[in-house]
Amino acid sequence: MSTKEEVLKLLRKNNESFISGQEIADEIFVTRASVWKAIKSLEKEGYEIDAVTNKGYRLRGSIDLIDIESIKETLLKNEINTNLIYLEETTSTNDVAHELERKNHEELIVVSDFQSKGRGRRGRDFFSPKGTGLYFSVLLHNKRNQIDTAGITAVTASIIAKAIDDIVFNGVNTAKIKWVNDIFINERKVAGILSEAFGTLEDEDEGHIIIGIGINIYVPKDDFPKELRKTAAAVLENLEEAPKDIRTKLLDRIITDFYSYFRNNDQKEKYFKIYEEKLFLVGNYVKINSFDGNYRYAMVTGISEDYHLQVQYDDGKEEELSSGEVSVVKY
Ligand code: BTN
Repeated sequence: MSTKEEVLKLLRKNNESFISGQEIADEIFVTRASVWKAIKSLEKEGYEIDAVTNKGYRLRGSIDLIDIESIKETLLKNEINTNLIYLEETTSTNDVAHELERKNHEELIVVSDFQSKGRGRRGRDFFSPKGTGLYFSVLLHNKRNQIDTAGITAVTASIIAKAIDDIVFNGVNTAKIKWVNDIFINERKVAGILSEAFGTLEDEDEGHIIIGIGINIYVPKDDFPKELRKTAAAVLENLEEAPKDIRTKLLDRIITDFYSYFRNNDQKEKYFKIYEEKLFLVGNYVKINSFDGNYRYAMVTGISEDYHLQVQYDDGKEEELSSGEVSVVKY
């Protein structure tokens, strides 16, 4: 990669903040004069670069803000009658959605640019730095427990993976699904879903479910925390040319497809097929961790129509797993 390309990559990675000439020089092991030369030649090529004394450089137009107004228009156009709330910063969009439901009893979507207490499955944290991801929660009323939470979560995984393929990778099958509902690219996780159901009595009118979605779009400015570097990745990590307004486009598409699925009763098969095609575990030997801390090894043989993982143990016994966590191991 030429110095110019390296500088451009760093400016893009830095997104909203300035980076000094010295920091760029140090990062890519060149002199400040070479950085200056590279900046000038990028400007000649038409890149708009802000240069501010004592702050450094920033690529204009690289700021990928989430255009909430356009999402509102989409909701209106598709007659999706739900509140859309945008918070620049919050603790966890799932928690905010739950809190607001308690106050207003309304369906809603909460989107945020930063979460200080982003939550993942199994009590884990979900790293949610500012400006680099898509963090949102959809709250749906669940009258008399009509919604199949496991099913809708799996469908959401298919919707996210397909949206990433279509919007970022020109329709090429790139995003994969790791059971139950993690999205992977190149064997590292780029997105996860945390679904939570509230109100469990069967004849209750008041139950609701919250589907929280977290997608790593850009590599964070200071990279992922050390403990995540081997397992986490960003959707745009290996792309030279990032599509414009990617966060808005993905959010728009995911929300549109989600409600379309939810309203029309005829897309179950379509999303099951996508899930099956994208599931990368079949034929792999896996370690199955159960909630009580025990584990077993088995071969994955398929996925059932209700999204149970079909496995075969060494003794030949077959089982369908409805929950748990698996990791691929070498056989
Ligand atoms: C997982 O991978 O374990 C699930 C991650 C879910 C993260 C999303 S980000 C938006 C919503 N708010 C949260 O606190 N968590 C979910």
